[in-house]
Amino acid sequence: MIRSKLPNVGTTIFTTMSQLAVQTGALNLSQGFPDFNGPQALLDAVGRHVAAGHNQYAPMTGLPALRQQVAAKVARLYGVQVDADHEVTITPGATEAIFCAIQAVIQAGDEVIVFDPCYDSYEPAVELAGGRCVHVQLSDGDFRIDWQAFSDALSPRTRMVILNSPHNPSGALITREDLDQLAQLIAERDIYLVSDEVYEHLIYDGVRHASVLAHEQLAARAFVISSFGKTYHVTGWKTGYVIAPPALSAELRKVHQYVNFCGVTPLQCALADFMAEHPEHVEQLPGFYQAKRDLFCDLLQGSRFTFTRTPGTYFQLVDYSQIRTDLNDVDMALWLTREHGVASIPVSVFYQRPIPEQRLLRLCFAKREETLRHAAEKLCAI
Ligand SMILES: Cc1ncc(COP(=O)(O)O)c(C=O)c1O
Repeated sequence: MIRSKLPNVGTTIFTTMSQLAVQTGALNLSQGFPDFNGPQALLDAVGRHVAAGHNQYAPMTGLPALRQQVAAKVARLYGVQVDADHEVTITPGATEAIFCAIQAVIQAGDEVIVFDPCYDSYEPAVELAGGRCVHVQLSDGDFRIDWQAFSDALSPRTRMVILNSPHNPSGALITREDLDQLAQLIAERDIYLVSDEVYEHLIYDGVRHASVLAHEQLAARAFVISSFGKTYHVTGWKTGYVIAPPALSAELRKVHQYVNFCGVTPLQCALADFMAEHPEHVEQLPGFYQAKRDLFCDLLQGSRFTFTRTPGTYFQLVDYSQIRTDLNDVDMALWLTREHGVASIPVSVFYQRPIPEQRLLRLCFAKREETLRHAAEKLCAI
């Protein structure tokens, strides 16, 4: 008998729903990835670097040119100066960055506060480090942080808080006032932050991202994480980065060098070139995805699903209580895939304690116009 270190982990709903979509030929709006390609100049650059022989190990901390581009971007967008050598680390995906940050500072018996609904990779990483997640529920409806509930969850064992804004699955945004509240509540405590900002450029309606990087007090104790996969429509490249003060970066790098050592060289070269040549890409991204959100939401207005337009990410939550009240969200997602040809993700899987009356599905709109029109047609026919 194997004594599992992660007894509660099974096949994730993302794998299950994507497999079911393939089996049934359903449109896959479940897992969060685009059905279109990244920018041609970026794809071409990879081929160029492979042909030029940039195929051996990259530096452990990441290609200097890419780290410099990351530093230049955060200076431009958030007005923050970070040291590309000592504060920026390139990782194989945001997932590895999250894992390494947690392993770097969490000790046996430590508590980590996470907010439900919660992205699924945090808790297993905390458990492997010997820690324990304390789940605080975001408010029902608008998915804001309840600072009283957060304050009640703090204990002498709390060692980390994991923030995620824009938030998967709800799209909700953390505001500057939220960050001030957090800074005040943890000011006298020895607590680190992981700020998962992989959707930092996917914010709509003219709202600006409140990055933890731009909050001096919080940035001093934070690992701020992002993903080139999300930003450049290349999720399969699994390339991300983490920005943290030098002492925290040094600890994170100790773990990262034995988990992966480094990210894929020609991908890093291509990203560095593309970021240098096309700084406008990140500035155009909100408009690009807002058009998709608005198209999809306009079309869904003809359905019996109810929703509020998502303020961020490429996920739209929809409430199905006017369609079927007899099904919980997992059964609804299965029914929708099998009977109506659209795969989604049930929101209850993001909760430690699901809200029984909640009837929400998450749909990914990082799709071509034709996919969105086709999916909306099917959803409007129900
Ligand atoms: C909130 C959140 N964090 C992290 C990740 C992982 O990013 P990456 O693919 O770069 O590992 C995702 C991907 O879906 C995500 O939604």
